[in-house]
Amino acid sequence: MSQTEQAVREDGIIASVSGPVVTARDLDARMNDVVYVGDEGLMGEVIEIEGDITTIQVYEETSGIGPGEPVENTGEPLSVDLGPGLLDTIYDGVQRPLDVLEDKMGSPYLDRGVDAPGIELDKQWEFEPTVEEGDEVGRGDIVGVVEETITIDHKVMVPPDALEEDEMAEVVAVESGSFTVEETVVELDNGEDVTMLQEWPVREARPTVEKKTPRTPLVSGQRILDGLFPIAKGGTAAIPGPFGSGKTVTQHQLAKYADADIIIYVGCGERGNEMTEVIDDFPELEDPSTGNPLMARTSLIANTSNMPVAARESCVYTGITIAEFYRDMGYDVALMADSTSRWAEAMREISSRLEEMPGEEGYPAYLAARLSQFYERAGYFENVNGTEGSVSAIGAVSPPGGDFSEPVTQNTLRIVKTFWALDADLAERRHFPSINWNESYSLYKDQLDPWFQEEVSDDWPEKRQWAVDVLDEEAELQEIVQLVGKDALPEDQQLTLEIARYLREAYLQQNAFHPVDTYCPPEKTYLMLTTIETFHDEAFDALEAGVPVEEIIDIDSAPQINRIGVQEDYEEYVEELKSDITDELRSLY
Ligand SMILES: Nc1ncnc2c1ncn2[C@@H]1O[C@H](COP(=O)(O)OP(=O)(O)OP(=O)(O)O)[C@@H](O)[C@H]1O
Ligand SMILES: [Mg+2]
Repeated sequence: MSQTEQAVREDGIIASVSGPVVTARDLDARMNDVVYVGDEGLMGEVIEIEGDITTIQVYEETSGIGPGEPVENTGEPLSVDLGPGLLDTIYDGVQRPLDVLEDKMGSPYLDRGVDAPGIELDKQWEFEPTVEEGDEVGRGDIVGVVEETITIDHKVMVPPDALEEDEMAEVVAVESGSFTVEETVVELDNGEDVTMLQEWPVREARPTVEKKTPRTPLVSGQRILDGLFPIAKGGTAAIPGPFGSGKTVTQHQLAKYADADIIIYVGCGERGNEMTEVIDDFPELEDPSTGNPLMARTSLIANTSNMPVAARESCVYTGITIAEFYRDMGYDVALMADSTSRWAEAMREISSRLEEMPGEEGYPAYLAARLSQFYERAGYFENVNGTEGSVSAIGAVSPPGGDFSEPVTQNTLRIVKTFWALDADLAERRHFPSINWNESYSLYKDQLDPWFQEEVSDDWPEKRQWAVDVLDEEAELQEIVQLVGKDALPEDQQLTLEIARYLREAYLQQNAFHPVDTYCPPEKTYLMLTTIETFHDEAFDALEAGVPVEEIIDIDSAPQINRIGVQEDYEEYVEELKSDITDELRSLY
């Protein structure tokens, strides 16, 4: 995070300190200006101005600073540095690289008064221009490429605020070769020098031309998601769930397997050890689609609950701004935030320090507005440079006691279009992922069907509906079973329960820790469903032919359905299994 010096600025002095909230007197500042507080120069942001008193949220531990110490205004809004080097890096909530902090401080958590640029300033990058002298360029246009990581080519762009909306400028000089991010690589005739480094205020969305209806799924390789509740590239999703129900595992599965080009993972104030796991684990992970390290297409923003509360408030903005930057290059970006509840709690804490009028359960009245501003920045966009790119936003929600009626879950529910409701009972029964298929939904289903029909099979929507119907019927039958027991049901209903059991155990359950089952391509998701349907069709034929239900349920081949998930050569396996099931059932009559 770098703040360039401004000519006009007036410094003030601290009037009061209350945890992360500090007030200053005589400070000439605007809303959202970044300031340095106290003798140690702790970083903060102006969040309220009333007469002579400016209120500041401070991103670092404030113990030991007190009234009378100086407050220095940078005159600049809270911004992130954007350029090559964002990937394969772990940041805190105000974009300070954790390894740099660690080197300077010896610990990533004792980071008072340490300033570190978000992007390495002395590293040389091999710049390859894609424009020539005399070319006309507009705002956001791509002027060159550097290999940022072994996986990702970084497009160097004219900053979107360097030119007016329809203004064009002529390229008057182009460099090629090794440069640092601050060196000029392209000169424009309007006097603008393009470097590989941009700065952007985190609370402001980067401009686009148009938000479009997303029509491509973000394929996750998780059967219940792709099969029943798909999210679009550019879509929004929430994963609410009680303690220990699988929110983090689901987010990690998405980070690893979703077919996004770029992953931004915001660990927002979850338990300290959980974030440490992420920081230790992610650098070890392999990207299944390239075999390269996963970090080569990932940027991590890590704020543990032992980091100051204000940095938690800002971390999702830092994350989504980085996401938008890669979207502008034409990439599909997926952002995971774990958990947005910790973010909302940070808002609540700061709001209560400000003595604002509390809304529901002490959250500030602007909670809903903040949540929707965040999710609004997701979408499938036509970018200002003419490329198309997307930001998908997936937020975990941790409602206290697993009660979905609380404000963060409810307000999120109103905004997002995909809802993956995790369920304590399912988790307890070790049904994973413990996504409740009765409560979850996706509003993208219909607009994504053509893709699945084209890429997988024309009857994708019918097959999904068939599975949903069987599961619905099971839910109804289970109520009767509770009262009278399974054996009292007519034979056809007993058979339906058996089919539904395979749907739950084979299709909906998926072991994130099994090397093969962890990722299920849509083709396999589809074939698994058609296998269960084959069993269904053949079993009902047998029943109609007079075969007792016990005999049908008892066939040897049926339990093999539960083994499809772990098969690498699933096509062959499924084909054989379908014919075994058919042969065995037909031999009964
Ligand atoms: N898809 C899955 N496959 C296998 N096991 C799973 C799966 N999802 C969750 N689990 C199991 O559930 C445990 C808890 O999951 P996780 O840590 O993701 O829960 P959480 O909702 O993030 O919890 P917290 O509220 O503590 O953050 C995991 O350690 C794992 O054992
Ligand atoms: Mg978790």
